[in-house]
Amino acid sequence: MNFHFGQQKWDMIEVYPVLKPFLHKSIQIPKWMVEKHKCHWFRDQSEQASRDYLVVGLGSDETLTYESLREAAGEAARIANSCQKDNIQISFDFLEGVNLNKVNAVSAFVEGWMLGAYQFQKYRQEKAAVKPFRIYLLLDETNELKKAIETGALRAKSTNLTRDLCNTDPTDLNPDTFTEAIRKHFDGENMSVRIYGNDDLQKLELNGLLAVGRGSRFSPYLAEIKLCNDPNKPHIVLIGKGMTYDSGGISIKTGRNISDMRMDMGGAGAVFGAMDLLASGNKDVNVTALLPISENLPNEKAFLPGEVIHFANGLHVQVGNTDAEGRLILADALLYSERLNPDVIIDAATLTGSIGAALGLKYAGVFGNEVITDLMKRLGNDSGDFIWPMPLIDEYEKSLQSDYADICNISSDLNAGAITAALFLRKFVPHNVEWGHIDMAAPVQSAQTKGYHVRGASGYGVRLLADFVENYSKLKERKR
Ligand code: BES
Ligand code: MG
Ligand code: ZN
Repeated sequence: MNFHFGQQKWDMIEVYPVLKPFLHKSIQIPKWMVEKHKCHWFRDQSEQASRDYLVVGLGSDETLTYESLREAAGEAARIANSCQKDNIQISFDFLEGVNLNKVNAVSAFVEGWMLGAYQFQKYRQEKAAVKPFRIYLLLDETNELKKAIETGALRAKSTNLTRDLCNTDPTDLNPDTFTEAIRKHFDGENMSVRIYGNDDLQKLELNGLLAVGRGSRFSPYLAEIKLCNDPNKPHIVLIGKGMTYDSGGISIKTGRNISDMRMDMGGAGAVFGAMDLLASGNKDVNVTALLPISENLPNEKAFLPGEVIHFANGLHVQVGNTDAEGRLILADALLYSERLNPDVIIDAATLTGSIGAALGLKYAGVFGNEVITDLMKRLGNDSGDFIWPMPLIDEYEKSLQSDYADICNISSDLNAGAITAALFLRKFVPHNVEWGHIDMAAPVQSAQTKGYHVRGASGYGVRLLADFVENYSKLKERKR
């Protein structure tokens, strides 16, 4: 996809985002076509070169936001793809008299367009053609607008990269290939990658990760990716759950189709994409990603319900259920993070089914420090990676008691599973470090193709985490 400025004279689609009924040449756009995200074709044969008009409804002035613009652009992108033409011209007339900034609107439009056009084709014999459109924006070229196009395109590119990772077959994206992809991908300026395998993990006493990985033919790994463009910025550690497949282990899952558990590396995927976005945008940040990566499978070596894991902070954890594996590998990443001397730690994980029961599919939940959760909520609202603050209720901690160890990895209470999982993690957070925990088990995928969402992996968290790092780095000073 190629974005340009100015008018396109030849065969083309002319895209008209509309907010109001209006008369264009001989075409009358009635009120019902203005309805949000509805798209309608017109063919104009009267001109020498035929024109196709695609009218894209934006709703009303009052409800127009950057997010609804992204949604409309995504919808339009897929519809335009079904047309014969290769050139597109987009009108931005609708911006007149509305309360949106032109630069941000262009950025949102490009981002939504590229996200909506995404298709995962790796395992399709017949690949649907994704047109390499030349897209002309009917705007005067300025440096600011050129930058806006680039910003939108980079955001979509990183998000689509994460979608690819999450959609991939779990035998293709296994702990070996995932860590290899990390090593290959992050070798830019001011960046470094370290991968700890079985032997290193033993020396580091990361016994949670080792236990969870025992049933797999692959070594578990801890991947560490550093991006430091400015050492004076607060040191932010991003942790992402990287379970390339979660069968439940010995406590095996019983669902009829558990293919979606290939996306149990969605937290690590989000961190991967966010690091990619921060690096490509050359942001002034000081950030380290920690990705505990493993595969949760049952075999004769697999960790057992009833087993006790001795963590490096001295805590003994009874494994009540091997399907509550995410918190065990995240606990190790949290313990390891202490040696990086962070100012703030954010972890992102597809941790519990309960978060979906609490918030539905559109929102992730965020726990922890209020400055962090408030900022996340605001940034999520702007970016479309929606998230809502959740409470850490101290009283519920007693449900993690174990009969014969310090704590158990599952709660004795059937309620509030997302909260008790967060309370479990809290026990491993280094003292005096601000912490935020994102449970994104629900929004890691999109149930339907609509707006800029495409059924399958959503790429959730890429924009949210990158925006968080960028904003937090402007807001706060490095403490130590
Ligand atoms: N990876 C799952 C959580 C999950 C559920 C992700 C649905 C995506 C969709 C996690 O490892 C898990 O199995 N959690 C259990 C915890 C329980 C055993 C305490 C759950 O939520 O059921
Ligand atoms: Mg599990
Ligand atoms: Zn899991």
